[in-house]
Amino acid sequence: MSASEIRPLRVALLGCGTVGGAVLRLISEQAHDLTARIGRPVEVAGIAVRRPAHHPDVPQHLLTTDAHALVTRDDVDLVVEVIGGIEPARTLILAAFEAGKSVVSANKALLADDGVALHAAAAKSGVDLYYEAAVAGAIPLLRPLRESLAGDQLRRVVGIVNGTTNYILSRMAETGAGFAEALAEATDLGYAEADPTADVDGFDAAAKAAILASLAFHTPVTAADVHREGISSVSATDVARAAEIGCTVKLLAICERVPNGDGDSVAVRVHPAMIPTAHPLASVGGAFNAVFVEAEAAGQLMFYGQGAGGEPTASAVLGDLVAVARNRLAGAAGQGPSGYADLAVRPMAETPTRYHVSLDVADKPGVLATVAHAFAEHGVSISTVRQNGRGDAATLVIVTHSAPDASLSATIAALRDMPAVRGVTSVLRVEGLS
Ligand code: HSE
Repeated sequence: MSASEIRPLRVALLGCGTVGGAVLRLISEQAHDLTARIGRPVEVAGIAVRRPAHHPDVPQHLLTTDAHALVTRDDVDLVVEVIGGIEPARTLILAAFEAGKSVVSANKALLADDGVALHAAAAKSGVDLYYEAAVAGAIPLLRPLRESLAGDQLRRVVGIVNGTTNYILSRMAETGAGFAEALAEATDLGYAEADPTADVDGFDAAAKAAILASLAFHTPVTAADVHREGISSVSATDVARAAEIGCTVKLLAICERVPNGDGDSVAVRVHPAMIPTAHPLASVGGAFNAVFVEAEAAGQLMFYGQGAGGEPTASAVLGDLVAVARNRLAGAAGQGPSGYADLAVRPMAETPTRYHVSLDVADKPGVLATVAHAFAEHGVSISTVRQNGRGDAATLVIVTHSAPDASLSATIAALRDMPAVRGVTSVLRVEGLS
């Protein structure tokens, strides 16, 4: 072998937090295997951080605060971006592409916002942009969608893609606690960030849903296209009502292809929903992630594992690093995602959903008829009705058939105004009921 053939592939690491630190350690610990698997040694050429003094355990000669100079250095072949956020990550990734370097990123927010432009820039430079770690941490999911299922037609991708909210909802179900109490516990145990907004309000899951939908349906979908509701209004009553009908409450990212008369569209949404306890996603507890895929030919598939954490996320980053390194040695970039289908994104108001509604009513003649009339008036068909209690303390629990979401929410608004209804005590969408 000539000297140029054995020159290591040199990696610029942007960010050295929990994930970056784990990437750095695994590259060192697995140097021998990575060399064998890639066909060339991999070494870290530099690590860009904002505050070098915060990284006493990292080889100090590798640290720099000048990330732009690092990614454009001639001796850097590949870039790993684990900074997160939109800027400066976006500018640095584009600079890496211009300099002919492939990028591995874990940056869901950036990919969900600007994936199309970033892929176009990578293709123009003939380099790779891989980001398996951006969705569901360690779970191999994006490559199966992009490659293994490339010959199939996907109908739905439904996932629990946020561990923080899954932990909170799991604790609410286990202990009967309300949202605030379960969030406080998650914060104390380190499952929730000090500022939990991105997780609790569904922003994190919405970014991941956009990425999943784009790959699943060969259609550009951004985070702004995703209907988003978080879990802060899920109550102990919602969770108890779910249990009464054999369901559990999960924050779901739902990406589906909706048949239309004049061409299919895609509907992408993140919201809490009741799912039957027999559904494969119902048993996903704690901070774990899982994604359930339905495809025409493959049928149902389930992906499960750790969706966050340094080592699990680093596993996905290193898998991508091996892939882009191999491509680089082969002298070719891998195939990026395809947006050829370019399906319209269906607004939430028109997306078919089902609701579970719990009402406090008086147990008097005509109340059920009045309530049923409100559903009928909005074109919503009722699937089941159950009454608990009697006299002044009666509760009506109604599960609807599928209807446009706007019709269901208009029905709820009408029920709230109805004198016969003392209170609408629980409203949640239902998924996966036959
Ligand atoms: N904060 C995310 C979660 C992990 O709770 O699952 C990173 O996307």
